[in-house]
Amino acid sequence: MTIYRFTMTNKIKLCTPEIINMATSLLCSGDVVAIPTETVYGLAANALSDEAVENIYKVKGRPSFNPLIIHFADFSDVAEFAILNNDAKILAEYFYPNSLTMVLNLKSINDASNRKISKIATAGLNTVAIRVPDSDIMRKIIKECGFPLAAPSANKSGKISPTSAIHVYDSLKDNVPLIIDGGNCNVGVESTIIDLSGNTPRILRHGKITKDEIENVIGKKVIDCVSDIKESERNPISPGQLLSHYAPSIKLRMNALEVKPNEALIAFGSNSPTGAKRTINISPDANLEEAARNLFSAMHSLDSNEYEAIAVSPIPETGIGLAINDRLKRASQP
Ligand code: TXA
Ligand code: MG
Repeated sequence: MTIYRFTMTNKIKLCTPEIINMATSLLCSGDVVAIPTETVYGLAANALSDEAVENIYKVKGRPSFNPLIIHFADFSDVAEFAILNNDAKILAEYFYPNSLTMVLNLKSINDASNRKISKIATAGLNTVAIRVPDSDIMRKIIKECGFPLAAPSANKSGKISPTSAIHVYDSLKDNVPLIIDGGNCNVGVESTIIDLSGNTPRILRHGKITKDEIENVIGKKVIDCVSDIKESERNPISPGQLLSHYAPSIKLRMNALEVKPNEALIAFGSNSPTGAKRTINISPDANLEEAARNLFSAMHSLDSNEYEAIAVSPIPETGIGLAINDRLKRASQP
């Protein structure tokens, strides 16, 4: 039996065949379920049902203009709902299942199938964000349900994304009837988002899969809307990227070369400053993948008014380091 220190809840369950059945029947009746993916935990509901999707927005306190990512078990299932262009097919073939979200044009409603993605899930846009996650649990549940799952990160809107079942419970409490415990997420930061709905592919959010990798696979230039375009000129951008996100309740400062005795420190590598009230080193070996995996967990642990602020050691701007720095930048905004 797993013992959950500090938290008394019967909502968190290890993944067994019975729990998969329970999740499937909750989802079929329009409820939400928190499900682990390789990036972060998702708060899932039937993407084809307005009522089910509304429950996600309600539980998260998410503004209705911010659309959701729709998760599929297989890329071939996406064609029923979205227009698959060549770049999408090539990226799917190369990467899926993986932590890459693609924004595609929605198919017109009067297609052969009368199933359609809820307009509430896409916030009324003509595009839809889709992903085939590298999570056996999530893909199994989608297959059992027979419909795709809309799933944002399973946290209160604007807060740090959860990378363990206990993080989900800490944020959403008993408002989620079932939280499936799949252990700590392997990637630890949310998926890369690439917009393929226009003429030129555009990165809308950094994640594990980098611009260089995408350019190599599709053999063409990609615009990086996060790093290369000034905020005022990003039009149209990913609606969710407008929001202050990932915010701990205390101040966070990046690129700290020294710390005050009242501060907590998120350290990286072996040359981090000493003297913080508490230090968590997210990768003593300076490995960026390991740092990404441990980042949100460290932010969750150090988000306490015991500390004046969270200082963070410099993180290199390469590979998944871009995603780490992006999340830290958002967390450091007041
Ligand atoms: O790794 C992930 O992507 C996780 C797991 C659960 O899959 N999900 C996740 O969802 O991070 P969420 O809701 O926290 O972030 C989704 C982002 C938002 O910034 C939203 O604005 C953007 O995707 N998005 C969704 N649909 C879009 C669309 N049609 N066009 C542009 N951006 C879109
Ligand atoms: Mg989120």
